[in-house]
Amino acid sequence: MEEIIRQYLEEISGVSPSNREELEAFRVHWLGKKGIVTGLFSEMKDLPADRKRQAGQMVNTLKQAVLLKLEQHSELKKQDPRKADRDTDLTLPANFLELGAGHPVSIVGREMNGIFSRMGFTIQEGPEIEDDWHNFTALNFAADHPARDMQDTFFIEKSPDILLRTHTSSVQIRVMEGQKPPIRNIFPGRVFRNEAISARAHCIFHQIEGLYIDEDISFADLKQTLYYFASELFGEGIGIRFRPSYFPFTEPSAEMDISCLICSGKGCRVCKYSGWVEILGCGMVDPNVLENCGIDSEKYSGFAFGIGIERTAMLKYQIDDIRLFFENDVRFIRQFRSMHG
Ligand code: DAH
Repeated sequence: MEEIIRQYLEEISGVSPSNREELEAFRVHWLGKKGIVTGLFSEMKDLPADRKRQAGQMVNTLKQAVLLKLEQHSELKKQDPRKADRDTDLTLPANFLELGAGHPVSIVGREMNGIFSRMGFTIQEGPEIEDDWHNFTALNFAADHPARDMQDTFFIEKSPDILLRTHTSSVQIRVMEGQKPPIRNIFPGRVFRNEAISARAHCIFHQIEGLYIDEDISFADLKQTLYYFASELFGEGIGIRFRPSYFPFTEPSAEMDISCLICSGKGCRVCKYSGWVEILGCGMVDPNVLENCGIDSEKYSGFAFGIGIERTAMLKYQIDDIRLFFENDVRFIRQFRSMHG
C-alpha cells in the first residue's frame, strides 16, 4: 500500500488539471477497469475479515484522492470551458514581467520640469559642446575670470575655444539671440566641470536653467517663482533661505538654500555641517547680457536661475553621496522602481 501511495503522489504531481489527455490517462490508470484502485478493491476479497476494514478504508481514501484531482478539471471547465482544455496549469503562479526603474535624476528632473511648465515656462535645450562666447563672454565673464581656468573647464580645442559647457546658462544666450521677449523658458541639461570627484561634487552633473524676460520683471517675481517651485517640490513647510551672491551675468545675484533633509539640520557631509544645502544660483539678468544678445535693456528686464538636479534629488531622497548617481549600481536604481516622473 505504501508503495502504491508513493506511486500515486509521484504521478499526480505530473498531471495538470487543465490538460484533458493527461487527466484521462490518469483516470484510466487508477480508476479504469484494469486500474490500480479497481484492482485493489477486487484483491480485498481475499483478505482475512479482520484486515478487510482497514484495507477498505485505505483504498477508499485513495479513490477519493483520485476523484478530487478529476474534479479540479470540471471546476476549471465551469469557470471557463476554453481555458480548461488548454495545455496550461492555471493553478501555477504567473510569470511576472520585471519592471525597470527610472533614474532618480530623470525622475526629479521631470518633476521639476512639470512644476515650471505649470507656471507657464516652455522647455528648450541647447548643445553640450559650446564656444567661449556662449559659455563665458556673452555672459559677462571678464577675459581673466577664474572660471575659464583649465581647472574648471574641459576644453576640446583652444583658440578659438571649444569646450564642454560648464553650466546651462549658455542656453540663455542662444535663446535670447534667437527669440524676442517675452521669453519664459527652462533649459534642462548636462554640464561638465574639471573638478575633483567627492561625495558632494562630480565632473558631470545636471542643471535646469530658467529665464524670464519681459517688461517690468522684478526681484519679487524671481523670489515668488522660486518659493513656489521649492514648496511644490519639497512641500509647504520646507526651510528656504536666500543669500546674496555674485555671478557675472546677474545683478543683483543670490543663492537659494534648502534646509538639509538628509540630516534634518543636525549636520552632515552633504550640508558641510551647516544644516543648509545650496540648490541654485539666481539673479536679475545683467543689462550687459541683454545688450550682448541684442535685447533693449532699457525696455526689458528679467531674471534667471540655475538649479542643480543632483543636489535637489539628494535632498528629496536623502542620498548622501553624489557618486551614486553615476555608478549605476542596480541596487541603488531599483529603489526608485515605484516612482514615476
Ligand atoms: N550658472 C551658475 C552655475 O552653474 C548658476 C546660475 C547662477 C544660473 C545665477 C543662473 C543665475 O541663471 O542667474 O553655478
